[in-house]
Amino acid sequence: MFRRLPEAESRPVIPFTFEGRPAEGRAGDSVAAAVLALGELACRETAISRTPRGPYCLMGVCFDCLMEIDGVPNRQACMVPLAPGMRVARQRGPRQPWP
Ligand code: FES
Repeated sequence: MFRRLPEAESRPVIPFTFEGRPAEGRAGDSVAAAVLALGELACRETAISRTPRGPYCLMGVCFDCLMEIDGVPNRQACMVPLAPGMRVARQRGPRQPWP
């Protein structure tokens, strides 16, 4: 459903983990864009019904892209630039307190 523009495919590879599995994005990707490019459409589950949600606006407005990034919950994945070694995971249900 989602694919990068051809010119973006030649950008440097950025390794990260998604749900504990090795993954690759491209320099310039947001975390949300990198996850979508993996073919993963859901990045969180709603707090009450646990319905899957995926990035919608990709510009910081809808908050449907909330993910756990490097152990920090409730991050807007569309607003966070992908960096090497990031640990990215779906946010499931209500966010847990963060120390
Ligand atoms: S996709 Fe809408 S805020 Fe991130």
